[in-house]
Amino acid sequence: MGKYFGSYGGQYVGEVLKPALGELEQAMTDIIPSGEFQREYQYLLKHFAGRPTPLCFAENLTKMMGGAKIYIKLEGMAQTGAHKINNALGQVLLAKYMGKTHVIAETGAGQHGVATAAAAAKLGLECTVFMGAVDVKRQQPNVFLMKQFGAEVSTVQEGSRTLKDAVNAALKQWVEDSSRTSYVLGSALGPYPYPDLVRTFQEVIGRETRSQILEAEGTLPQQVVACCGGGSNAVGIFSAFLDDPVSLTAVEAGGRGTGRGEHAQRMSGQGEMGIIEGYKSFFLQDEEGQVLHTHSISAGLDYPGIGPQLAYLGETGRVKFTRADDRQALDAYQLLARKEGLLCALESAHAAAVTLTLASDMDKKEIIIMNMSGRGEKDLFITARELYWEQWQQFLLQEAKG
Ligand SMILES: Cc1ncc(COP(=O)(O)O)c(C=O)c1O
Repeated sequence: MGKYFGSYGGQYVGEVLKPALGELEQAMTDIIPSGEFQREYQYLLKHFAGRPTPLCFAENLTKMMGGAKIYIKLEGMAQTGAHKINNALGQVLLAKYMGKTHVIAETGAGQHGVATAAAAAKLGLECTVFMGAVDVKRQQPNVFLMKQFGAEVSTVQEGSRTLKDAVNAALKQWVEDSSRTSYVLGSALGPYPYPDLVRTFQEVIGRETRSQILEAEGTLPQQVVACCGGGSNAVGIFSAFLDDPVSLTAVEAGGRGTGRGEHAQRMSGQGEMGIIEGYKSFFLQDEEGQVLHTHSISAGLDYPGIGPQLAYLGETGRVKFTRADDRQALDAYQLLARKEGLLCALESAHAAAVTLTLASDMDKKEIIIMNMSGRGEKDLFITARELYWEQWQQFLLQEAKG
């Protein structure tokens, strides 16, 4: 796929990082296609990550909406609860084949950190996860889980002490120690070769979905919907349908309003082209090119940039971008739980909100598939606070008293 998707992507990094990225690119071309790597990776996907994940017919929601048949791809059934494990396993295994003994990762919400820590534990590599101090505070359960997997969580106190500062700290460490360390990046973005590398490991979502729907219905769907933070689950499921007459919709976080800092709509809002964190794409930024704060109820969708392939697919019109706000996501989360017995991650609930609206406008003979990128247990502290504040507060106070 090269270094660019249209005019997006590239490798805008200082000279110090180029050797490490070059080594990774070489490994991607030489090691990943090899029979030995593929055998071990496929084995781990099946026997450790739990793939293939099911494609579930949402019969009750289909009846309720009265339109297209709704199918849900259950990525949340994978080990550690989200699609992030597909990529983490792939990159940690690649690091091992490259002779590295240590992996580092950045994490915001913690899901990618948890997946990388689990993969490193399984494959016997040391793991350090960089996390901004603000995120460490608000994502304590994931910090705890990473530590259970034996990872060191390094709290970043610089800058705004969130995801972008964690990325900078991880890159600094990588430059200093690339002979024994590999940097496992969590979404389909960053400097080349990461967008290609991450997509390669997430394409399994699309491949499985395509054959599962053909087996269940004997035909392709009319629509596929996925939520979109950096873009790895979206690009993963879309990849199998790009050449088909299937409409593809990516859902961004509409947050709590349209004002600056209230959402994370890079493509369906006020994003501007820029070069940030080593790649060219759409970012939410101010007049001086400074990255803006974002907001979403889901910790995984509040990233200010978007992967370059999705930016390109959005520009060419192949992928449509739309939004769901915090409230719509919470409503969809509750509906999926009550009607389908599925507790979906708040990120995926954005895709669910849009899927339900689209489905109701479609013909009964048509099919729509949504990617449930993760399961919702990780969001307990957010959903309980939003939906049952009084009881939840009392419970926490009692627990704290012991
Ligand atoms: C469950 C889940 N879905 C979606 C995302 C968004 O990431 P991406 O756009 O790379 O799929 C995250 C990020 O943490 C996540 O945890």
